[in-house]
Formats: sequence, C-alpha cells, structure tokens
Amino acid sequence: MTKIRTCLFPAAGYGTRFLPATKAMPKEMMPIVNKPLIEYGVEEAYRAGMTDMAFVTGRGKRALEDHFDVSYELEHQIKGTSKERYLDATRHLIDACTFTYTRQVEMRGLGHAILTGEVLVGREPFAVVLADDFCVNIGGDGVLAQMVALFQEHQCSIVAIEEVPADQTHRYGIVAGDEIAPGVLRLSAMVEKPQPADAPSNLAIIGRYILTPDIFDILRSTPPGAGGEVQITDALMQQAKAGRVLGFKFAGQRFDCGSPAGYVSAINYCFAHFDY
Ligand code: UTP
Repeated sequence: MTKIRTCLFPAAGYGTRFLPATKAMPKEMMPIVNKPLIEYGVEEAYRAGMTDMAFVTGRGKRALEDHFDVSYELEHQIKGTSKERYLDATRHLIDACTFTYTRQVEMRGLGHAILTGEVLVGREPFAVVLADDFCVNIGGDGVLAQMVALFQEHQCSIVAIEEVPADQTHRYGIVAGDEIAPGVLRLSAMVEKPQPADAPSNLAIIGRYILTPDIFDILRSTPPGAGGEVQITDALMQQAKAGRVLGFKFAGQRFDCGSPAGYVSAINYCFAHFDY
C-alpha cells in the first residue's frame, strides 16, 4: 500500500472572473455559505488520508495562510461562548495537518504551478486539488478518497473526469480512452480546451488529480501550450503514451465555483442539504 501524504493546492491564479471580489482576496477564500472553498478542499484531502497540505500561492494570497493558523485575539474573545463551535472543524484541521507554502512568481499556467510545488511534495505520489472545483458526495466517500482507493490498485496517475455538454469542451481538458472497468478509462488522448469539433469526447478533466512524481521531470521539459501556459494535460499526455494515466468517473457532484453560476448553484445546493 502506497501512502499518499501530500495534497497540493495550486492557488496562485488571479480569479479574474470574480473581480472585484478577488481584487484583494483569494478566490479560494470565497465561502460556500460560511466555509471557504479552500477549507472544503483541505477537508476532502484529510478525509482521504492526507495530512501534508501544500499550497502554491502568489501575491495577495496571505489570507490562505492566516486561515490555517490560530487567531488568538478572536479565539480569546469567543472562548466559553456558543460561538466557539464555529471554529471547531478548522481547529481540528490545524492540529491534525501541516501546512506549507511556496509562491508562483509568474502565472505561467497550472502545469507550471504544479512544478512550482515540487519543493513541497518531494519524490512521492501526491494529490492535486483545485479548490474552485467544489465536490460533494453526500453519504459517500469524497472524490479524493475514491481516487486514492483506485491508485492503490493501479499505481499510476489518475484524473477525475465527468461528462460536460458538447458545446462546453473549450473550457476543459478533454480526454478519451478505453474503459477498463466500470467508470475507469485508460486514457489515450487528451486535448486542452478544444472546440467541440476537435474534441475527442465530451469527458472533461475536473480539478482532482493523483500524480506520480515523474510528472515533475516531464513538466520541466514541457513547452508552453494552449494560451501560452504550461499545461498539465500536455505533461499527462506523455504519461498516457505509456498507458500510465487513468480517467475516473467519480461518484458525487461537482460545481465550477470559478464561475458565478456554478458558485451560486453550490451555495444553493449546500444550503438545501446541510445544517448551518
Ligand atoms: P483558472 O484559470 O481556473 O483560475 O485556473 P484563475 O486564473 O484563478 O481564474 P480566472 O480564469 O482568472 O477567473 C485553475 C486553477 O489553477 C491555478 C488557479 O489558482 C486555479 O486554482 N493556477 C492557474 C495557478 O495556481 N497558477 C497559474 O499560473 C494558473
């Protein structure tokens, strides 16, 4: 059994689709009702057995570090009151996990952000969570926990995939491959943000990955692709050529909280299904 200890959170992006909210605040701190997106991501990783939370941040992202730290003044203020319980879950994560940070100085794409995180990850398999892809699976395992179980069986990179409307392929990395088990594809094609006519399927990669550490060497020699950015899909394609990437149709629901419509849907869904 290979333990996956580290979850990497690329969080250096500007979040321009949420301006002006993201002018001085990280997109990852936007709340789903009362809990920031990043905390849901860290919880999902923790429930999947990970305790090393590694963040690739950038300018203007200090709130992320402050969130996963004690706040003496505030905690002193609410000590002994009914409000103390609001911080219980966060305090538990702070106690149970370590949090490390590095900065991506130039926004050169998700692939480059992941490579920037190498210093925090080392040479072992790791998970990646894009916190603005918010995932819930009521009554079942989180998406990362499902992927960790699959990793134990196959020991290769895994990307979470889901069907998207055919006219939306230009917003995602789109994949194709052979189904080797129900909901599990061995990927043979991956295209970043194709127009519908060029898309190999309507199966899109969403923001959950398990990557083997050779991805760093591949990323180092991956030239900028679509949009002038270093694309993780281009690097994954190199692993896929050796049959070393699976696509996984996870159980659960995903909301694209990087867009206003997805964000509002996530809040409505959570408010209807959870107690606040
Ligand atoms: P997005 O393109 O969805 O995020 O990147 P963005 O750039 O923050 O948002 P918009 O499009 O301007 O509204 C997907 C993920 O990759 C990270 C982002 O933080 C986000 O979590 N990312 C992207 C980086 O960390 N560095 C990059 O250079 C690019």
